Amino acid sequence: MENKEVLLHVEHLCQYFGPTKAVDDVSFDVYKGEVFGLVGESGCGKTTTGRSIIRIYDITSGSVYFKGHRICAGTLSYKEAIKAARKELRGGNVTPERKAELEKIIADNKIEIQKANIDQKNADKEYGKQRAAEVQKEYDELIASAPDEQEKERLRNEAKQRVKAAKRSKIVTQIQMIFQDPIASLNPRMTVKEIIGEGLVIQGYTDKEYIENKVYEMLDVVGLVPEHAGRYPHEFSGGQRQRIGIARSIIMNPEMIIADEPISALDVSIRAQVINLLNDLREKMGLTIMFIAHDLSVVKYFSDRIGVMYYGKLVELADSDELFRHPLHPYTNSLLSAIPIPDPATEKTRVRITYNPLEEHDYTVNQPSLREILPGHFVYCNDEEEKRYREKVANE
Ligand SMILES: Nc1ncnc2c1ncn2[C@@H]1O[C@H](COP(=O)(O)OP(=O)(O)O)[C@@H](O)[C@H]1O
Ligand SMILES: [Mg+2]
Repeated sequence: MENKEVLLHVEHLCQYFGPTKAVDDVSFDVYKGEVFGLVGESGCGKTTTGRSIIRIYDITSGSVYFKGHRICAGTLSYKEAIKAARKELRGGNVTPERKAELEKIIADNKIEIQKANIDQKNADKEYGKQRAAEVQKEYDELIASAPDEQEKERLRNEAKQRVKAAKRSKIVTQIQMIFQDPIASLNPRMTVKEIIGEGLVIQGYTDKEYIENKVYEMLDVVGLVPEHAGRYPHEFSGGQRQRIGIARSIIMNPEMIIADEPISALDVSIRAQVINLLNDLREKMGLTIMFIAHDLSVVKYFSDRIGVMYYGKLVELADSDELFRHPLHPYTNSLLSAIPIPDPATEKTRVRITYNPLEEHDYTVNQPSLREILPGHFVYCNDEEEKRYREKVANE
């Protein structure tokens, strides 16, 4: 794991809607090329996590880094630190040393707020610069090894255009989101060709022939045919619509896809086809996928690592195999017990475990946090639970 490249780094992410803490202090990494499964029951904050990452919200607190680049930055934690320091100062009774300390805390956090605002505002510009530099570097190498001056000149011209486009690239085009309900996310008045090509048009491409060729290429990639291009979304089945949604995403040549319950609304019989398609794309395009689901049965076979969410919190995170070998958090065990067993005899005796947080945990004295029980295996627990979990994995 250590030598894997971190593509997405989510750090203390909080997204609050008034009193609703939809996502509350969630941290995880997604490695380049992997499928990261995010699982939890309806309403636990999975979609909000995805939407925060693609910058639909100005997040409440925390940071998101994409390729080392801070693309989301919230300020609430800094504001709270300032508030607490001011309160202590107002309370009087502080030594001169403590006063200096508190003043430094206030000054430092003010700087963090400024930095967060700047990062949030400049994310696309900075990202564009980075992309442009990467493209330029690629071409510098090509030009250096080109056989003659004529070829060098051709490459220089091509580089100029591509670097210009790269400067305009936005982070949201690099992370594409696919949604559960393809019909709600496809404009009914647009043809399939227009829907799939729209992203390129928005990005500033004007060459109609280029766009059309790209659209046909994408139709082929997702298993549709050229005849489909002129039709409208309602003429397609659910599975085909999801393919259109996928084509619309990958035409932007993203590095990462966030697939938000992409098969939940589909017939059981065609779910595997969509999963297989995503798997193919992952291999062909070197895609990284964050796959959101409300139960473990789907992500089990498809994900390299799995994060389990409960009520805005990430409660467990591990390699898929490890999670199934040593499920530690009681909520994970409850999710596991909900997976039907293919063998009818065993399925009859399957017992569903319900998770009742008030019964399971006593957090009155000692507070929980996300702790690493085995390398790469994290559980949200307190001291007593951590001890118990460590004993459990040691004895198995
Ligand atoms: N735009 C919003 N405004 C207010 N509350 C929201 C909004 N989006 C989501 N929520 C609330 O945040 C919580 C998490 O929702 P969501 O992320 O959609 O969960 P999931 O995708 O896991 O089903 C829910 O309580 C939901 O009602
Ligand atoms: Mg959702």
